[in-house]
Amino acid sequence: MTLPGIERVLFTEDQVNARVQEVAAEISAKYRGHDLKLIGVLKGSVFFLCALARAIDIPVKIDFLAISSFGGHAEGRDPGMVRVAKDLDHPIEDEDVLLVEDIVDTGFTTRYLLQALAGRSPRSLGVCTLLDRTVRRLVQVPIDFRCFEIPDRFVIGCGLDYKQLYRNLGYVAVMNPDKG
Ligand code: PRP
Repeated sequence: MTLPGIERVLFTEDQVNARVQEVAAEISAKYRGHDLKLIGVLKGSVFFLCALARAIDIPVKIDFLAISSFGGHAEGRDPGMVRVAKDLDHPIEDEDVLLVEDIVDTGFTTRYLLQALAGRSPRSLGVCTLLDRTVRRLVQVPIDFRCFEIPDRFVIGCGLDYKQLYRNLGYVAVMNPDKG
């Protein structure tokens, strides 16, 4: 089915699934012998976090937080103006924590969350993202695991939305809202 506004598929569902398996294997190898807590940033990371958790073969816990970006992400918010809108349900002290994102763009969200979470004394703290749009980076953040680097285009699917739609697509596609 061709959906309105979809210009081209960047990564097919098979490619996404294969890459998630590879990254999950890397994560399992790195943390083997420990429990791992995956922290998802709502809402975009939900689909990726679930796929990752299913593919990791060491014990995992999951928790979620939500952030608010003043002015809204799509409307060119004031850079760095981020706050926690929904906090984690449980402490992370002495735990191995992996922050899971669907996409890292400017890096402001990740930088803010790393600072906030580091203050809670985890045993370790890493970052895993499905998509990395380094061309838009404004602040440098350490990315420990990433599935794909993407060009400077508006993308949807695998958790990423256009007006809250298309998050549930199993593939990643370039969106052009002007295209019928
Ligand atoms: C996206 C993404 C990251 C953030 C990355 O969230 O999930 O949290 O933007 O952008 P940055 O690197 O420029 O800070 P978004 O605000 O679109 O919310 P959503 O996950 O609910 O779609």
